Amino acid sequence: MIKVISVVGARPNFMKAAPVKHAFDSLKNVTHLLLHTGQHYDAAMSDIFFEELGMGKPDLFLGVGSGSHAEQTAKIMIEFEKVCIEQKPNLVIVYGDVNSTLAASIVAKKLNIKVAHVESGLRSFDREMPEEINRIVTDSITDLFFVTEESGRTHLLHDGKKYEQIFFVGNTMIDTLVHFCTNNSAPQKGNYFVLTLHRPSNVDNHEHLKALLQSIEDGAGDCEIYFPVHPRTMKTLKDSGIINNLNLTKWKLLDPAGYKDFITMVRGAKGVVTDSGGIQEETTWLGVPCITLRESTERPSTVELGTNTLIGIEPQMVKNAVSRIATNTAQNLYSKVPPLWDGRAAERIVNIIMRELSLS
Ligand code: UD1
Repeated sequence: MIKVISVVGARPNFMKAAPVKHAFDSLKNVTHLLLHTGQHYDAAMSDIFFEELGMGKPDLFLGVGSGSHAEQTAKIMIEFEKVCIEQKPNLVIVYGDVNSTLAASIVAKKLNIKVAHVESGLRSFDREMPEEINRIVTDSITDLFFVTEESGRTHLLHDGKKYEQIFFVGNTMIDTLVHFCTNNSAPQKGNYFVLTLHRPSNVDNHEHLKALLQSIEDGAGDCEIYFPVHPRTMKTLKDSGIINNLNLTKWKLLDPAGYKDFITMVRGAKGVVTDSGGIQEETTWLGVPCITLRESTERPSTVELGTNTLIGIEPQMVKNAVSRIATNTAQNLYSKVPPLWDGRAAERIVNIIMRELSLS
């Protein structure tokens, strides 16, 4: 019997792995185990996603929790090595670009276990982002590369990977979104923006975070701003006292949202302001204007085809970009869904994995 372990750890992994788990569960000749490293551990950052995405409980849980990058990565490696030695999987699947992705791929490869990387080949070319290091190292030891957009294949070929190892399959995060939108009707449009911020470069410095929030508030005009706050960001809001000075007639500070609430909120929004990776893709598929508060994106198809605009973090630029959406004067909001973002990526991935494992 073929055995496969999917490794997840942080919030954005969960919606990428759910459709892959469901596709494996429908097959008889393979055991698929879902392993949660515990990188994210709060109910609102983790449990609710397992529940809402129909994944039940993880089959294996490492409970590593927070720490510095080295501590977190090391703890995952130590615990995951024990699991691999005991379970002897034929393949380990890792997702995205978080510390759990990096740690699990290194452990598997050193035990001579094949590694498949879902969402491989993306590059921001900003090596100050921890995620970029995770992507580069993971891809350097991956055996099967599953890419979400053409840029992924281009980067992998440039890095010397073989064409036959690279599979352009679409986007499993979009599979989850397609499934959700098929089963839930769209809400009415509201007069509000959705904001998410969690990148250390945007939220760890008090003055910087304050200036960003002020520019968003100034640009939003009479729109409200719904802000589900990541734990890291909440810490800065409280430590700095910024939280006490926000104009609460405009700001709706919310706990981190579950999947259903978040997507419903985004579908009804006038626009989204974010520094996340995945939200750039979700807004593109949904056709909701997105302003990304970063200098670079590893997801260029969201800018070339979709609704995403890279604005950077200069306050006046941010204010103007938000204001253009608030006043319906933004240009170029015509958008297309990128190729193969059709809800069937997981099915393609599982077919390829079964074929490759039966050949090896
Ligand atoms: C991680 C990922 C990032 C992803 C993000 C989504 C890495 C390097 N980064 O960043 O790519 O976009 O998840 O949220 O893997 N915390 C809690 N409760 C939790 C989890 C975290 O309170 O359940 C707090 C802790 O104080 C922790 C901090 O948030 O130290 C940061 O968590 P961590 O997992 O290190 O990184 P994220 O910023 O969440």
